[in-house]
Amino acid sequence: MRPKYHISPEQGFLNDPNGLAQFRGKYHVFYQWLPDVVPQGSKQWRHCISNDLVHWTDEGSALQPDEWYEKNGCYSGSGITTEDKYFLFYTGNVRDAEGGRETYQCVAVSDDGKSFQKEGPVIYLPDGYTAHFRDPKVWKKNNSWWMVVGAQTKELQGNVALFESNNLKKWDYRGNLLDPSMDWGYMCECPDIVDIDGQQFLIVSCQKETGCKGIVFSGKMDYIEAKFQLDDVGNLLDAGFDFYAPQSFVDESGRCILLGWLGAGKLDYQMSQPTVKEGWLHSLTIPRELFVQNGKLHQQPVKELESIRRHERVIEAEGHTFINQETWSAELLAEQISDQKFSFNFGNVLKISFANNSMVIQRKHWSSEEYDEVRAEISVIKNIRVFLDQSTAEIFVNNGEKVFTFKSFFTDDKWVEVESEKTIRIKIWRMEA
Ligand code: FRU
Repeated sequence: MRPKYHISPEQGFLNDPNGLAQFRGKYHVFYQWLPDVVPQGSKQWRHCISNDLVHWTDEGSALQPDEWYEKNGCYSGSGITTEDKYFLFYTGNVRDAEGGRETYQCVAVSDDGKSFQKEGPVIYLPDGYTAHFRDPKVWKKNNSWWMVVGAQTKELQGNVALFESNNLKKWDYRGNLLDPSMDWGYMCECPDIVDIDGQQFLIVSCQKETGCKGIVFSGKMDYIEAKFQLDDVGNLLDAGFDFYAPQSFVDESGRCILLGWLGAGKLDYQMSQPTVKEGWLHSLTIPRELFVQNGKLHQQPVKELESIRRHERVIEAEGHTFINQETWSAELLAEQISDQKFSFNFGNVLKISFANNSMVIQRKHWSSEEYDEVRAEISVIKNIRVFLDQSTAEIFVNNGEKVFTFKSFFTDDKWVEVESEKTIRIKIWRMEA
């Protein structure tokens, strides 16, 4: 069940991607980690390094909760590199015996990108917020450093706090970024501001009574007024069931790359997953390049993933087509679909069908014969790219305009069935990292 080209823990529990950056040519990804397969506990930052965003080495734990200001977990945060240093900003989580909570935004610094020296808290909780205040994301703009922190106001509403600094050490509070008359849920986790070709987006993981989702808003980051002015009402960044807490970074070539947690959900939904018996749970998504087309944020797998395509097969599918699969670590690209009714069935675990402007994705539940289903209104499907990796599936529709991420526990039934009215051009590869 272990993915071959996704980051997943050898052992234990993984959640959010953290600290993303490219430092002296190498890509660094950290993730929230616990040595045991339980969702709650004193989180550590597990560290991975790569030259190509595809092959990763596990560097062990970079941050462990051993100081007073983080004793119940080194929670999520981000990475910033300067010419000679790599800074990690993260939340020190502290609980007391009565269940009370304290939060400190902390920094750790490295000269070599391997060992990080903790410098302790740089931000204490400002007035107006509860202790649900975490996940600092730092970036540079207009000769200043900026930080957004996910927050819950004293009114128990989600918002995002903005800070400014000129030295990464002393931070000035600039206010609440978001319009409080909107429904942001009861807490905004993992906020991120993305700037692509002068267009800005706010990404935020909203906790609502109805569920927790990563949402992207298009708008304008007003640094003078310290407000994010919305241009739309927000869209799911990924409409699958198993995607949360995404984070972006800009690499040395200027690409904006995003990874998310390929997991999340209610406690029994997570703990009933079959990999728990193997002693590990969850993975990160593949790295996705963000770009803007027709004013909308799109995601495409980074091009480096093409380097692990093996054994290409080209199939002109029409009517009923049966494709034998050697492995569930694979990529499928379907093009020239034009306007027609079609469906894909991946070993009865994942099914994609399209008819009458409506796309339906069904994913088989692991502990029953039932399928969970997502529907999306799409007028025309031009292309679909599906990335499968043993227990994961990521579906990119129309050049990544819509993306759907699912846990998919494939079996030994290794085949893909395609039904189509007209010809669909399919390419399929085995992926070997
Ligand atoms: C999001 C989150 C963050 C927090 C981290 C703790 O999944 O709840 O807000 O920092 O996970 O592991």
